Amino acid sequence: MTATVDRDRLWQSHMEMAEIGATPKGGVCRLSLTDEDKVSRDLFVKWAEEAGCTVRVDTVGNIFARRPGTDADAAPVMTGSHLDTQPLGGRFDGAYGVLAGLEVVRALNDAGAETRAPIDVVVWTDEEGCRFTTKTMGSAVFAGLIPEEDVLAAADPDGRGFADELRRIGYAGTEPCGGMDVAAYFETHIEQGPILENEGIPVGAVIGAQGQRFFRVTVSGEEGHAGTLPMTMRKDSFLGAARMADAVNACAFAFDPVPVVTVGHVRVRPNSRNTIPGETVFTIDSRHPDEAILAALKEQMSAACGRIARDLGLGLEIHEASVSPVVTFDAALVQAIRDAAKVLGIPCKDMFSGAGHDACKLAAVAPSAMIFVPCKDGVSHNELEDATPEDLAAGTAVLLRVVEDAANRG
Ligand code: HGY
Ligand code: MN
Ligand code: MN
Repeated sequence: MTATVDRDRLWQSHMEMAEIGATPKGGVCRLSLTDEDKVSRDLFVKWAEEAGCTVRVDTVGNIFARRPGTDADAAPVMTGSHLDTQPLGGRFDGAYGVLAGLEVVRALNDAGAETRAPIDVVVWTDEEGCRFTTKTMGSAVFAGLIPEEDVLAAADPDGRGFADELRRIGYAGTEPCGGMDVAAYFETHIEQGPILENEGIPVGAVIGAQGQRFFRVTVSGEEGHAGTLPMTMRKDSFLGAARMADAVNACAFAFDPVPVVTVGHVRVRPNSRNTIPGETVFTIDSRHPDEAILAALKEQMSAACGRIARDLGLGLEIHEASVSPVVTFDAALVQAIRDAAKVLGIPCKDMFSGAGHDACKLAAVAPSAMIFVPCKDGVSHNELEDATPEDLAAGTAVLLRVVEDAANRG
C-alpha cells in the first residue's frame, strides 16, 4: 500500500499546536525555553510516541523522534525544523517542518511501510534566536559550528541562563549533541516570501540560502537631566543610535542587488522619559547572496557609525555576533525534490532562500535540502502568517516521497 498524506490530520495538528502560545491576532509566541516552548515540545513528544517513535533529547535540547528502520545501524534520514517562534510569530514558521515530518511517520505507519534506514523527526532548539540572540543554536551546535559551552553559557536580556532554562523546562538531555552520521536532511518550511503564491506554484525546491552577518552595536553617552542640560552639552546615545540606524539603512542602497539590512532590537538605558539615554544597544541583521558584498557593506556601515559617534562625542563598539556563509544545498537532494514533485504531478520551482534555516547548519555535516510552500501574501514573522491545508499537504507529499526513497536507498 502506498503511503499518502492525510491533509486534514496535518492541518488539525497545526491548529492544535497553534493553540500553544496563541496571541490575540491569530499568531503565536513561544520564545525558546519558555513554558510555551515546553508545552509545544511535550505535545510533539506525545504525538511522536503515539506514532511509535522512540524519543531522544541531546545536551542542548534538540529532540530526535526515531521511526525505526529494518537496519538499525544505518545512518538515519532526518527531517524537522523548530517549534520556537518570534514574539509575534506565525502558526507555520518552524511548526510546519516539524509537523510535516510527523505526518511522514504517520503516513508510513498507516501504510505499514518499512524503510531500511531509520527516520528521525527533529525539533531543533532556539532557531529564531530572539531570546538568547544567536540564531539556529541547536542545529549549529549539532553541526559543530558553534561550541556547546557558548550556547549553554548564554543568557537572555533578563539574565536568565540558557542551561538553567533548559533544565527548568525538562529538556536538558543526555544524548551527545552532534557527531553522528546523517544520511540526508530534508526540511519543509513556508517560503516566508511572495514568489510561490504570486506564481501559483505549490512547491519550491530550495537550491540555497543567502549569507548573513549579524551585529550588536553599543553606543555610549552620558545620562543627564532632560530638563536642565542644554542640547549642545548632551551625549545622547539614543540620538546617535537613531542616526546610525538611518545611516546603515542607506548603506544598503549603495549595492546592486540591494542587500537587506534590519535594525530590529533596541535597548535604551535607563529608558526613562526624563533622563538622557546614557547607553543604547541595537542589532543589525544584514543579508545578501554575495559574501563579498556583505563584507563591503560591513565596512561601509562601520565607517558611517564611526562618523556619527565622533560628531556627537559618543563611544561606539560594534560586535559581529554571527556570520553565516551563503549555503548551497545538495544537488542530488534538490533533484530528488524536483523528481518527486514531477511524479506527484505537483508544479515545482527552484528557489533561493532569503531566510536562514536549520537546514543551513545541517548542510555543513549532511546532504541537505529544503522544500518550500507558499504563505499568504508572503507574510511571516507576523501574527497574520497564513497557509492553506492544500499547500501544506502538497509540500508534505513531496517530503514523504523523498524521505521514504532516501531511507530505502543503499
Ligand atoms: O531569521 C531568519 O532568517 C529565520 O527565519 N529565523
Ligand atoms: Mn523558521
Ligand atoms: Mn523564523
